[in-house]
Amino acid sequence: MEKIIITIPAIAQKKYPIYIGKNLLDKISTLIQFESYTKIIVLTDEIVAPIYLNTVLTSIPNTAKSIIIPSGENNKNIDTLQFIWKKLLQIGADRKSLLINLGGGVIGDIGGFSASTFMRGIDFINIPTTLLAQVDESVGGKTMIDFANIKNIVGTFYQPTAVLFDIQTLQTLPQNQFLSGFAEIIKHGIIKDKTYFDLVTSKKPTAFTDDEIIAIITKSCELKAEIVQEDEKESSTRKLLNFGHTIGHAVEAISLETDKPLLHGEAVSIGMVAEAVLANKIGLLATSDTEIIKKSLLNAGLPTDIPDYELAQIIKKMRSDKKNIDDIINFTLITQIGNGIINQSVSDKILTECIKSLQANNINSKK
Ligand code: NAD
Ligand code: GLY
Repeated sequence: MEKIIITIPAIAQKKYPIYIGKNLLDKISTLIQFESYTKIIVLTDEIVAPIYLNTVLTSIPNTAKSIIIPSGENNKNIDTLQFIWKKLLQIGADRKSLLINLGGGVIGDIGGFSASTFMRGIDFINIPTTLLAQVDESVGGKTMIDFANIKNIVGTFYQPTAVLFDIQTLQTLPQNQFLSGFAEIIKHGIIKDKTYFDLVTSKKPTAFTDDEIIAIITKSCELKAEIVQEDEKESSTRKLLNFGHTIGHAVEAISLETDKPLLHGEAVSIGMVAEAVLANKIGLLATSDTEIIKKSLLNAGLPTDIPDYELAQIIKKMRSDKKNIDDIINFTLITQIGNGIINQSVSDKILTECIKSLQANNINSKK
């Protein structure tokens, strides 16, 4: 088992462990102290519950209760949040209760937000069961819901007490979900570590052995922990993690209103290619690196073309992004593979050209 300690200096040196390994779900009580909690509540979704809830419940104090919500991004909203708050009240949760988030990034985001707001904040633990949540969502304390058809627009910074995950959960994860998580792994290489990028793109994501996957997840968590420790509240360095997310979030939000919703990592993959092309168009990134990024994502089985949505709709969504200040769209771009650069803006003309060029690819590739 790997153990990483993440320290958040800004909040009085709050430290929490990230446990990564195989077969950890039935050893939770050996890793987490439950004695001081009055109630323990496991939040999970309808897909994860039949697979993992019993294992977790038998591995924690037997008085624990559970809350089950529907699965998927469309449920990361205010209605589900109210449902969770009401259930917490019915269960009799108080300020000394603990919420355990068991599931993917949707459970982690809405569970973390519920924990941060219920009675002004109760402790929570993340047990992420998707690759995406393991390498990104569960670490770093961003909690949120979608609102008014805008992704992640309402939320808090609120750190978990511990993160624990069992890579065996990846065995039941559909392949497209696994690849979606791999997009964030590739992103970590692109923004911060060229050697890591070369390693994670050296073969197809599904060709890595379990031990290699543990090493990869561990490295991604370390890279993310380093960034969060430096800048918990995203005033500077943490913005690096937003590479691919400005165009990605816009495309993801629009897709959720169609009958072909994109997974988060798929949208980020499209966004990374688009933002690499933007960086190239403004002279920041060499054409060779731009092409390597696109090829690597394609080779990983991820989408890279922007779907044929209306340009005005994409730009409108980007304008509602919370990262913008004063109506200027704020991008994280890259200068080379392994080096991100924050707080970049581009002209509307270049942005339009970039989006159209990637949509043209899409239409041509369908012919
Ligand atoms: P998800 O939570 O919707 O999970 C994907 C699907 O897999 C769901 O249907 C879920 O029920 C199912 N599932 C989960 N674990 C499973 C398992 N082990 N076996 C079988 N099925 C399983 O999606 P996700 O990709 O995990 O997370 C995406 C969300 O995370 C988005 O809302 C995104 O905005 C958010 N996110 C947040 C942060 C952050 O820093 N807070 C970072 C990245 C992404
Ligand atoms: N997923 C981006 C962040 O945690 O900052």
